[in-house]
Amino acid sequence: MRRGAALAAFLPLAACGGIQSPLSPVGDQAVALHSLLMLSIMICGIVYALVIGGLGWSLRRRRAEPPPDTDARALDHSLWIAAGVILAGLIALTVGSFIADRALFAARGRDALAVRVTGHQYWWRIEYRDPASGRWIETANELHLPQGRTARVALGSADVIHSFWVPNVAGKIDMVPGRRNLVDLTPRRLGWFRGQCSEYCGAQHAHMALDVKVDPPAVFDAWLTAQAQPAAAARDAVAAHGAAVFAGACAACHAVRGSGAGGRAGPDLTHFASRHSIAAGTLSMTRGNLQGWIAQPQAIKPGTMMPAVALAPADADAVARYLVTLR
Ligand code: CUA
Repeated sequence: MRRGAALAAFLPLAACGGIQSPLSPVGDQAVALHSLLMLSIMICGIVYALVIGGLGWSLRRRRAEPPPDTDARALDHSLWIAAGVILAGLIALTVGSFIADRALFAARGRDALAVRVTGHQYWWRIEYRDPASGRWIETANELHLPQGRTARVALGSADVIHSFWVPNVAGKIDMVPGRRNLVDLTPRRLGWFRGQCSEYCGAQHAHMALDVKVDPPAVFDAWLTAQAQPAAAARDAVAAHGAAVFAGACAACHAVRGSGAGGRAGPDLTHFASRHSIAAGTLSMTRGNLQGWIAQPQAIKPGTMMPAVALAPADADAVARYLVTLR
């Protein structure tokens, strides 16, 4: 019974892995931080075990025999041992933290992919520098990374302090208005991961998530080339109507490259439907969710900067139809 309870106490640890966890590191930077974390836990565990063990030993000894005259000398010895253990632990932690810190920027100076991520209440503006043309390609809320190559991400903020954290890939770095902080991301494993704003930034801080996709380099290059293209032309009459409504009602805030819509207040929607989710990880990408989001953004994400725009139901549906064709 007691053994079962002890084992059950470890069960919550099973939930520590996954696509948003520093305990399942897939990036060089996250591996360095994970090692440092394990070193800290190990040293703290040893110190804890020694203190508790020493306490138990001395209590038992005291009960067995009355304190002899030499007790002061024994205490003296114990203090020296404790000081030695603490000093050794501190030195190990200092060295470990120095090594981890070096590893975070080990790729500096090498041919890194240039990316800019800017925090907004409550979404992420993402820009890649096209290596061919040198021009910046804009997208939002979904960060694609090539496997095995370092992306040097310059972080900024358009309004308040946010914090960029993709725990499986690297540590968290604040996004401070008026500053450019750098973080290197060198992911080694393919797949989807999840980032999260980790500095309280307002009502929808919790819904400021980031989808992260690690692809083989060739797939990543194809994705970037596709993202650099202007938006596809409207595919049918409904989508064409939606594009016209969008140009009137949405273009002040949103850009769709190639359509004339050039607003900068909200996310770039040029390849909106190629993304995994809507509203920074809040809803999965379906036409139904998009219709709901356009009709009632304040009900889905209260406090979002996206206003409810009064559109006739047919017009709103046409806008949704138009947007889901923007792949
Ligand atoms: Cu942005 Cu919290």
